[in-house]
Amino acid sequence: MNLESELVAALKRARRVTVLTGAGVSAESGVPTFRDAQTGLWADFRPEDLATPSGFLRNPQLVWEWYAWRRERVNTVAPNPAHHALAAMADVFPEFHLITQNVDGLHQRAGSRDVIELHGNITRTKCFDEGTVVAEWKDTGHVPPQCPHCGGHLRPDVVWFEEMLPVDELQRATHAAMHCDVFLSIGTSGLVYPAAGLPLQALGSGATVIEVNPEPTPLTARVHFAISSAAGVALPRLVEQLRA
Ligand code: APR
Repeated sequence: MNLESELVAALKRARRVTVLTGAGVSAESGVPTFRDAQTGLWADFRPEDLATPSGFLRNPQLVWEWYAWRRERVNTVAPNPAHHALAAMADVFPEFHLITQNVDGLHQRAGSRDVIELHGNITRTKCFDEGTVVAEWKDTGHVPPQCPHCGGHLRPDVVWFEEMLPVDELQRATHAAMHCDVFLSIGTSGLVYPAAGLPLQALGSGATVIEVNPEPTPLTARVHFAISSAAGVALPRLVEQLRA
């Protein structure tokens, strides 16, 4: 039995499947990743200036405009075959959990339901001071706009470095990682914790762990199956085989 058929057999036996995705899943939609050399966002921009509370307070206008630019890009792209394959996978298994580090909302646009968003969502806005999500605000000409409730700065509802992950989402993600038969880590460099700890918790709980990434990561040597391929190629093929 070759590697791929062993992998498919392990998935076919599974009743509970948990998936963790990262920026690599949206790369084929044209959304830049963070750490890919030259093309990654952090190759051109300093995370400490654009993705920290202190960076925001130093220059709120710069940060607000940078996220507005990213939101514009996300609005002009579409989910790719990897997103659609994961939406289809939810109907294959009795229990399926999709955890994402991505803030682009492309999983939901591909039809995935109940996505666990560990790092927030760029299409939502919240008050910097109160932390409450704000759907509407008056355009007073301020950049960033002002919170209609307290007058403070509005900011994107994403998790910045130096910030805690949303408690409910992290608890649900940890539970799903520790109570699955198969865990798939797809399109993530596995460098940012606590998300990068989830595949290790799955390993420690006896799950079969599969990685999908064209490049090796710190996790590659520890997984049961490593698919060195683009997600948009590997995942539709996997779903096809699961349905066969
Ligand atoms: N298919 C699968 N994987 C891919 C593809 C593809 N088509 N293209 C690139 N990759 C892989 C890269 O090899 C890399 O390992 O996706 C990974 C992207 O890694 P990062 O850019 O580090 O993104 P991610 O792991 O999601 O970053 C984690 O860091 O900057 C913060 O909050 C941000 O959520 C983000 C977190």
